[in-house]
Amino acid sequence: MARKKLIAGNWKMNCLLAEGTDLAKGIAAEVKKMGKPSCEFLVCPPFTLLTTVKKALRGAKVALGAQDAHFNVKGAHTGDVSPVMLKDAGCQYVILGHSERRADHGESNELINKKAVAAYEAGLKAVICIGETLEQRDSGKTIEVCSNQILGSVPDNADASNTVIAYEPVWAIGTGKTPTAQDVEEVHAAVRKVLAKKLGKGNANKMRILYGGSVKPGNAKEFLSLPDVDGALIGGASLKVEDFVAIAKNAGCC
Ligand code: PGA
Repeated sequence: MARKKLIAGNWKMNCLLAEGTDLAKGIAAEVKKMGKPSCEFLVCPPFTLLTTVKKALRGAKVALGAQDAHFNVKGAHTGDVSPVMLKDAGCQYVILGHSERRADHGESNELINKKAVAAYEAGLKAVICIGETLEQRDSGKTIEVCSNQILGSVPDNADASNTVIAYEPVWAIGTGKTPTAQDVEEVHAAVRKVLAKKLGKGNANKMRILYGGSVKPGNAKEFLSLPDVDGALIGGASLKVEDFVAIAKNAGCC
C-alpha cells in the first residue's frame, strides 16, 4: 500500500509578515526545483499569515494549513476561527489537538473530535495529533494513551482522504530528544492497528501517520524510512528553508 509521504511544517506562534513571506517563498522555490517530488508538502503558519503565505506559495505544490479551528461555522466565539474561514483563506489542512493546545487550552479528545467533524464539513483535511507525556512513557502507558487518543479524537467518518494522524511524544517536542526508531515504529504500528479496529483495515492501511518531535535533517532518514511512518510534522526545523528542505531530501522525497 503506497502512502505518499507528507512533509508538514508547523510554524506555531512564529513569524511576522516579512519573515513568514520569505520563509514561504524560499520553501516554494525549493519545492519547485524538486520537479516531481514523491512527497507532499504542507506549511501551517499562524492565522495572521495564511493569506500572505497562500500568495507566496503560488505555483508551488505546497499545501496550506492552519493550526487550529473552532467546531462552529460562525457566531459569537471571540478569538476563534472557523474551519469555513480557513477554507476561505485557502487552507486545505488544519492541525487539530496538538499537545500544546491540549495542554494550554485543555482540549479534550471529545472537543478535537468535534473540531475534526467540522473541518471535514468545511472541506478541510484534519491532521489529528496524539502523543504521550514523559511520565506516561516512563510508566509504560504510551500505547494505551495513544490508543485512547485515537479512539476519542478521530471521528467515525475519518478516512485516508480527510485525515492524517501525527504521533508526537510530548517530551520530544522542541527538546532535541527523540524516541528510538524502534519505539517510533512500535507506536505507529499500534496506532495503525487501532485505526483498523475503528475505521476498517482498508482505511487504516491508506491513512498517513506522521512522526513529530525534534525532527531534524540529521534524523529524518532514520524516522522516515520506517514502514509505518508516512511523513513528519516539523516544528522548529520548519522555520528554516534549508532544514525543512534537507529533511525532505533526506527522507527521499526527491
Ligand atoms: P519540534 O515540534 O519539531 O520543534 O519538536 C514539532 C511539533 O510540535 O509539531
